[in-house]
Amino acid sequence: MIKVAPSILSADFACLLQEVQKMESAGADWLHIDVMDGHFVPNITVGPLIVKALQGRTRLFLDVHLMIKQPEIFLDAFYSAGAESLTVHAETCTHLHRVIYSIKDMGMQAGVALNPATPLSALEYLLPDLDLVLIMSVNPGFPGQNFIPAVIPKIRALAEEKVKRNLPFLIQVDGGINEDTSGEVIAAGAEVLVAGSALFRHANPVALIDTFKKNFPRERNV
Ligand code: DX5
Ligand code: ZN
Repeated sequence: MIKVAPSILSADFACLLQEVQKMESAGADWLHIDVMDGHFVPNITVGPLIVKALQGRTRLFLDVHLMIKQPEIFLDAFYSAGAESLTVHAETCTHLHRVIYSIKDMGMQAGVALNPATPLSALEYLLPDLDLVLIMSVNPGFPGQNFIPAVIPKIRALAEEKVKRNLPFLIQVDGGINEDTSGEVIAAGAEVLVAGSALFRHANPVALIDTFKKNFPRERNV
């Protein structure tokens, strides 16, 4: 079954908890929290404070996407705040293996995100150690950008590798996911869909989450 992870980036922060609760009752599974530092990406968003504010107030799994340089400095702060999964960008980590094991040793799930231009080969020797691989389908930094179709073969290749090596990581896709793009992404092998603007701007998020979930199972290309 597809998991749906609304990105709070498109929520109304003046009433964040109600926005999160709306997604929870609409059938979401995870809550995707986009952390940006103004260095790795040209935008600044939220930090551990927001994770802490939401922790214990929602049953949604707290999935934190770190779009920050030197993420290793902040792992402990996010863990203490209540993060359940931390995803770092391969592009930001010189010692990616060490960062992943720091996350896992703290008891969180560990994910690695790849920008649209970063090849899968960056993860070849790390895949067995991961709980999540996040394929970015936009260049990270802002909500509401257009989906980049060139990532479809990357999702498909990752899904093939997962099957071939019988690996347990989940495949998450983030950026430009909506009614029009979700089917193709799921057919290619996505298992966790992040959606920000499409979900928070939708008049009927229940229907959209339903649409995402109805796309699975379907004929996969792998
Ligand atoms: C992009 C973020 C995404 C973004 C998704 O840098 O990582 O999570 O908020 O927003 P939409 O679904 O609007 O592309
Ligand atoms: Zn994200």
